[in-house]
Amino acid sequence: MSTDIKTIAVLTSGGDSPGMNACARAVIRAGIAAGYKVKGIQRGYAGLLEEDITELTSRSAADILSRGGTFLYTSRSRRFATPEGLDAAAKICRKHEIDALIVIGGDGSFKGARELAGRGVRVIGIPGTIDLDIACTDYTIGFDTAVNTAMDAIDKVRDTSTSHERCSIIEVMGRNAGWIAVCCGIANGAEEILVPENYDYDEQKLADQILDAKQRGKTRFIIVNAEGIGHSTSLAKRIEAATGIETRATILGYLQRGGNPTARDRVMASVMGVKAIEVLKEGRYDRIIAFKDGKYVDIDINEALEMQKDLDDIYLKTAAVLN
Ligand code: F6P
Repeated sequence: MSTDIKTIAVLTSGGDSPGMNACARAVIRAGIAAGYKVKGIQRGYAGLLEEDITELTSRSAADILSRGGTFLYTSRSRRFATPEGLDAAAKICRKHEIDALIVIGGDGSFKGARELAGRGVRVIGIPGTIDLDIACTDYTIGFDTAVNTAMDAIDKVRDTSTSHERCSIIEVMGRNAGWIAVCCGIANGAEEILVPENYDYDEQKLADQILDAKQRGKTRFIIVNAEGIGHSTSLAKRIEAATGIETRATILGYLQRGGNPTARDRVMASVMGVKAIEVLKEGRYDRIIAFKDGKYVDIDINEALEMQKDLDDIYLKTAAVLN
């Protein structure tokens, strides 16, 4: 065990994602089992700046494995992103004798963690976001639950779309990444999937493709639209005008961020949480826990934040062939 670590702290930051609780639970229980004192920081970096820090026990993590959201609460802090905020946060970590800070969140949260690392705070990042948009890892906690939630919702919209012989545009989350959209598009058999990575904004072509599908006998049309493209309501009006087919927009929004995590998210979150403690025990820090090429690994935080990730072409090809 890395002997100079006595106390660790854990926080969740940025948009919540199903499985964050399972991950915090793993960090708390594995941390205590490793002999560390474990502190919980409420409301992410905002709570760190307000010194909203309490000691956790194994029982603090009781009954949270199956629950969506994050019992530690989360936030996006403007003050933390300033040099003054970062200096203050690093000082607070020292004041509370936090020898290592575990951050469960997305890219933005990791950038904050990297700044803290530059100020002498040992950090470990664990990828928690529904968006799957963290370059160093093939999986982010919450993605599977979000896709399943959106898939169920789209199945329901599809039923009513079929009854009314309508076109439905369904907008899913994902910030600037099309992962949720493309996976739902495949899982729901959508006629069209619009993702920021390859959408050409040619609405006439889109209308022609829908009319072509109608010619081939289709009476109902599902378009999955990624948040990064957005404007689903006005797009629906333009598609209706261009095709003469009644078109409605549904924006799924925050329901994709809640709900009980799937088995995949619970397992990934638990393994990543335990792995974070293993990495600290082995004396490594300033690392991001990742799932890469089928293996759980840890990557230097600076290298991790330099990496780029594109939507895997195979998903776009699959959708194109099947839809
Ligand atoms: O990162 C998760 C996410 O839900 C994105 O898909 C979305 O763009 C963003 O968070 C919304 O953030 P907020 O809840 O702060 O509005």
